[in-house]
Amino acid sequence: MKKLLITIDGPAGAGKTTVSRELAVRLGYTYIDTGALYRAVAHEAQAKGISANDGEGLEKLCNGLEMMFVRTEKGLRLICNQVDITDRIRTPEITMLASEVSARYVVRKYLLGLQRDMGKAKGAVFEGRDMGTVVFPEADVKFFLYASTKTRAQRRYNELPTTASSTLEEVEKDIKRRDNNDRTRDVAPLKPADDAIRIDSTDMPIQEVVDRMISHIQHCCTDLNNNYSQ
Ligand code: DC
Repeated sequence: MKKLLITIDGPAGAGKTTVSRELAVRLGYTYIDTGALYRAVAHEAQAKGISANDGEGLEKLCNGLEMMFVRTEKGLRLICNQVDITDRIRTPEITMLASEVSARYVVRKYLLGLQRDMGKAKGAVFEGRDMGTVVFPEADVKFFLYASTKTRAQRRYNELPTTASSTLEEVEKDIKRRDNNDRTRDVAPLKPADDAIRIDSTDMPIQEVVDRMISHIQHCCTDLNNNYSQ
């Protein structure tokens, strides 16, 4: 049975993570969250006091990193230099720093090789910003998931822990700033691949997004028909 490589790109808050996870489960595929890899680089840079402007420092840092996703009873965990950092990379500081380090060529170059290695076996759903354009231009099926800024901000706001002090306006401002960073950077900016299937999730429940994706996949690759159970 042919295993496919599927990419899902799009801006923050469009629903990529939930959709990618669900799609991977339904296909029996591996889910790879590439944003977590940029967050990991940001986390390590912060721990070592390396700024996002220090290209040389970031290059040295990347050369000393060993990252992998490991499946445990707690789910998929990100291990960086033998330490499980999964729960440490979701803070607002790491979120902003990840956006900044992701604009650096040296960081993207390092992660490009790592992501392509992870994709060699296929049978995977890769979620990110440049999966269909740069990392896997030959992917079997590409999706670009988006939603209005207001909807994305509201979703992120609803996900905040009750202890968080950010307002909806602050969350929306952060989203706009990150969108701008991701879309305007010179290296691998966020944009849909020419051959990506674009889905607007503004008013669409997650389940419907996944159903649409499955039917696109079936349509694109008829030989996949027996490769998943609904
Ligand atoms: O998806 P996320 O919010 O966890 O991603 C964190 C940051 O990493 C985000 O600002 C964009 C960047 N990123 C990227 O540039 N390319 C990817 N393939 C994935 C994430």
